[in-house]
Amino acid sequence: MTTQINWEKLGFGYITTDYNVRTHFHDGRWSEPEVTDDFNISLSIAATCLHYGQEAFEGLKARRCPDGKVRIFRLEENAARLQSTSRGIVMPEVPTELFREMTLKVVELNKRFIPPYESGASLYIRPLLIGTSAQVGVKPSTEYTFLMFATPVGPYFKGGFATNDYVIMRQFDRSAPLGTGCYKVGGNYAASLLANHIAHEKGYAGEFYLDAKEKKYIDECGAANFYGIRNNTYITPKSTSILPSITNKSLQQVALDLGMKVECRSVEEEELATFEEAGACGTAAVMSPINRIDDLEKGLSYQIAKDGKPGPLSTKLFERLTGIMYGTEPDIHNWNTVLDI
Ligand code: PLP
Ligand code: COI
Repeated sequence: MTTQINWEKLGFGYITTDYNVRTHFHDGRWSEPEVTDDFNISLSIAATCLHYGQEAFEGLKARRCPDGKVRIFRLEENAARLQSTSRGIVMPEVPTELFREMTLKVVELNKRFIPPYESGASLYIRPLLIGTSAQVGVKPSTEYTFLMFATPVGPYFKGGFATNDYVIMRQFDRSAPLGTGCYKVGGNYAASLLANHIAHEKGYAGEFYLDAKEKKYIDECGAANFYGIRNNTYITPKSTSILPSITNKSLQQVALDLGMKVECRSVEEEELATFEEAGACGTAAVMSPINRIDDLEKGLSYQIAKDGKPGPLSTKLFERLTGIMYGTEPDIHNWNTVLDI
């Protein structure tokens, strides 16, 4: 089959590729990963993932680079976060080695779907872990399926590295301080769907959540973390209810490498008025600078971008980070897995 994909026009959607890779947890161990061209799963109607949300996922990207190689960014970090999620909702951990083996396999087997460098698109890898035992009691499954598929994607937020407007959604919480917000489980995204829908209806690129307890601090933005920049300092929220973003963690290191200071601490909403630059960051979003954030209930509007364009430090951070991802900047922290495919 020949694929006619307009790489430049790709959005953040789903295209079926050639293969996915699966392993099953049974009798306390993971099976040898198997490759399949079947893109459906057969499940008991009583599987715990369907009823009690025993479901976790990850997201990482493989990129075709100017030197012709393919680079996968920080896959060990995704493996570690999935392990943390597994502990959080009582599922077996997928060992890092197995995660790595399956990532490489799914990328290699679908290499014709890796977008060309010039397109700016990438191959998004989606690992998924689900409880499959049939039971109606609320307790963890004894059997699990872990699978990985891949799909080519374009920008998550409009325009890629371009500014967008966001809105604070005071009437919704995505997660609770002692809840599952720090894990990558589907339930958090279910909790965000209505707020996200309303934000889009009102013309915003995405929604911001405040901390659920005091409604005072910035938590995160839909499916991305938040950063602000002031006085050569990269400032990002510390909160138990947000996902520990690998992109954010990398940006903090890049900021230090660039001679900036880094603060990871509570960020009050009012502080938004003081930022010289701000943005959303994540695997899907990469870096998405913010033009304005509105708080409709309070009748406030925080104008951040000076002239509607990404600021100079966001631009520097973006260029250094994506340079590492594409192999055009030295990978001094050893973040990439490089494939000759
Ligand atoms: N926050 C949420 C809720 C997310 O879904 C994501 C996406 O993974 C992020 C933040 C960004 O995390 P990462 O940079 O690891 O992709
Ligand atoms: C990611 O950035 O990888 C995400 O998971 C965001 C979203 C598509 C859920």
